[in-house]
Amino acid sequence: MTKQVILEAIEIKKSFPISKDFRLKVLKGINLKIYEGEIAVIVGKSGAGKSTLLHIMGALDKPDSGELIFKGKNLFELNHKQLAKFRNEEIGFVFQFHHLLPEFNVIENVLIPNMILGKKEKDFALKLLKEVGIEDRANHKPSEISGGEAQRVAIARALINSPKIVLADEPTGNLDTENANAIIELIFRLREKFNYTFVIVTHNEDFAKNCDRIIKISDGVIVNSNQ
Ligand SMILES: Nc1ncnc2c1ncn2[C@@H]1O[C@H](COP(=O)(O)OP(=O)(O)OP(=O)(O)O)[C@@H](O)[C@H]1O
Ligand SMILES: [Mg+2]
Repeated sequence: MTKQVILEAIEIKKSFPISKDFRLKVLKGINLKIYEGEIAVIVGKSGAGKSTLLHIMGALDKPDSGELIFKGKNLFELNHKQLAKFRNEEIGFVFQFHHLLPEFNVIENVLIPNMILGKKEKDFALKLLKEVGIEDRANHKPSEISGGEAQRVAIARALINSPKIVLADEPTGNLDTENANAIIELIFRLREKFNYTFVIVTHNEDFAKNCDRIIKISDGVIVNSNQ
């Protein structure tokens, strides 16, 4: 079976202004294809530009130049509103710190991206909570659950709009080994069951070893992604 490319980054360059006359060049021409149903891991030294790349791939940030192709279109040619639609409908984000809203309970947190689209699929939210193993905590506030549980809620939230791609920035970064392993298992199970595509930044070597593909960033370019 030929692998289907669902997102492609072409010659992505990104720099940040550091002082009046100096810009730090972080991404120096990233070329990367993401294939449907894969679990790809992005690795590289701290400061290599992993989070920067992930944000650009999710259209949370714009590059200085380069293209991001989704369904045959360069996303950076879209206007603000169209980009927001892409983010909300096609991408699920999981951040290193779960970023749950403290004043809302677990199920409300899962439903927030859904409500942004004018929907409220409560049954599906409950199904996702069951899938990540914490349906019994649906009415609890984030302060009443553990870090590992909060990260599972964050994964359920990332899936509520049935995204094409889930982008996760160090989803196990703040967890102990046991909880980290539970999240890794969950990600593999979700892929197995629903064929989600995951692009995951991680420093977790076990995770990296077990995924489908390791994408390594060094000196602003990809040095080994097999593609
Ligand atoms: N908004 C910004 N303004 C200035 N510099 C930035 C900005 N965002 C990121 N950088 C710099 O760009 C470089 C890459 O940052 P990035 O967060 O992408 O690294 P990373 O690979 O995710 O690192 P880590 O593993 O520590 O999370 C770093 O040197 C960082 O300081
Ligand atoms: Mg980072």
